[in-house]
Amino acid sequence: MEYRVPFGVRAHSYSEEEITEALRIMRGSEPLTQGQNLREFEREIGRFANVPFAYGISSATAGLEIAASLCQLSEGDEVVIPAHTYTSSAYPFAKRGAAIVWADIDPITRVVTAETLESCVSARTKVIVVPHLYGYGVEMQEIMDLAQRYQALVIEDAAQAIGVRIGDAMAGTFGDAGVFSFHSHKNLTTLGEGGVLVTHDTKWGEIIPELRHNGHRPYSDDRSDYWIPAMTDVVLPKLNGEPIWPMNCCLGELACGIGIKLLARIDEINSKKRDRALHVIDSLVDFPELVFHREPSSRHNYYLLAARLDGVSRDQFIRRMAHHHSVQCVVQYYPLYRYPFYRELGFGEAVVPETDKFYDNMVSFPFSHVLSEHQIDYVIEATRETLAWLRAQ
Ligand SMILES: Cc1ncc(COP(=O)(O)O)c(C=O)c1O
Repeated sequence: MEYRVPFGVRAHSYSEEEITEALRIMRGSEPLTQGQNLREFEREIGRFANVPFAYGISSATAGLEIAASLCQLSEGDEVVIPAHTYTSSAYPFAKRGAAIVWADIDPITRVVTAETLESCVSARTKVIVVPHLYGYGVEMQEIMDLAQRYQALVIEDAAQAIGVRIGDAMAGTFGDAGVFSFHSHKNLTTLGEGGVLVTHDTKWGEIIPELRHNGHRPYSDDRSDYWIPAMTDVVLPKLNGEPIWPMNCCLGELACGIGIKLLARIDEINSKKRDRALHVIDSLVDFPELVFHREPSSRHNYYLLAARLDGVSRDQFIRRMAHHHSVQCVVQYYPLYRYPFYRELGFGEAVVPETDKFYDNMVSFPFSHVLSEHQIDYVIEATRETLAWLRAQ
């Protein structure tokens, strides 16, 4: 079915300057991976986020795989993760033998807090995974204090939260490592796929380049017999004396070149999205049936615009929006413990009442940057009509 306003998974369009840059790299870049665009992109992200180590990777999921490896999990370790998140926040840890303990969310911000995590954390907790879901920056300092009390590591899933500020620091930079996604739908997309893995930890930072590229380590450049004994070394990356398997998840030059350009305007992209979100929320303020999370600061980049329906049927709302108004709303972040994937692994139980209440009543509106003002105003009108219709039922 074609929608007048589709949900869409393309975040934004590219400027002529960005398209020209892509063509320049396509025509002349040598090499097409591991070159100067990668180095510059990493330098720029490091500066933007104020972190000493930032590595371009093929996706946030690849970054979570590496981060999970760096956590060096063993039998009996538990990893605390909110049930309300995307699946790759969780399975890289399950894959490495950890038991998953599902945490609940705060009903207002729809993300974890130190309070919602506290009942899940114990002496067995090795890692706490914190997703900045919807693009809202979680209150990190209290979570860092909690983690320190239990000597747990913290991995931030900032896949949706590029450019989000929590106080003076960026989301993704409080924990032991953080990942950002540049997938097609994200506020910054490097042509469909991509990501960055960041850390302050020197030991982690030093081996990530080997982990993301098959254990390769360059020999020094001044060998005259440059082919002896091989073109590049292959090492088994080690952390605390223990080996970690490498993989290949580099980010290509074209993606990095576009990433550099987009990073220069990410604050503008985020603030336009935020203004738009506030416009929608404020235009619907006379409909208390729709409960948004309103945050006017750079703590929220409004990657998604979600709301909980109160006192009216969510499914009836989405159905009328789709079939009567041709507006494609969706639901997001099915609580992970309900998926057969996690049930089969033995992680099918959770006590997460706020997650359940939110997910079962939530709606996510079409909200990509590529939608026109006219389309957004149409969504507002359609929503008003649908809620008035639901009231009359
Ligand atoms: C919260 C969250 N974590 C992880 C990911 C995975 O990102 P990627 O598609 O870059 O692997 C996503 C992507 O949608 C996400 O939203």
